[in-house]
Amino acid sequence: MFARIHHVGVACRDLEKTAAFYAETFGLTLVWRARSDEYGLVEAMLRVGNDNFESYVQLLQPLAADTQVGRFLARRGEGIHHIGYEVNDIGAALAELSKKGIRLIDECPRHGSMNSMMAFLHPKSIGGVLTELVQVRSGG
Ligand code: CO
Repeated sequence: MFARIHHVGVACRDLEKTAAFYAETFGLTLVWRARSDEYGLVEAMLRVGNDNFESYVQLLQPLAADTQVGRFLARRGEGIHHIGYEVNDIGAALAELSKKGIRLIDECPRHGSMNSMMAFLHPKSIGGVLTELVQVRSGG
């Protein structure tokens, strides 16, 4: 079902500072920035590698304490927030996982970073790991 690890989501308190750290220390390239008022966060995607097998570090900074990432930071501090796996057919993957008894946070795929489609699976079903499915859309 999983094609590859698409990105690792990292919660941070200062997106600018953390993005600069990853760029300067590890040579990652900032390729996407976005703000979501719905989820109360700003995000940045930093590309790892330059070939067809690229993957990303996704930085997440909450806009307020009373948001999912804000509560995560208060509880656990900065660090790994979730893992995003690429799938070829996110609708089919969600249906199959639901049948296997995996709890879905997103019953239906929604719009994600870099024009992808994404959905979260509940960490309680996956040994405490918040897991994201990503379907990359080519050409757009
Ligand atoms: Co993500």
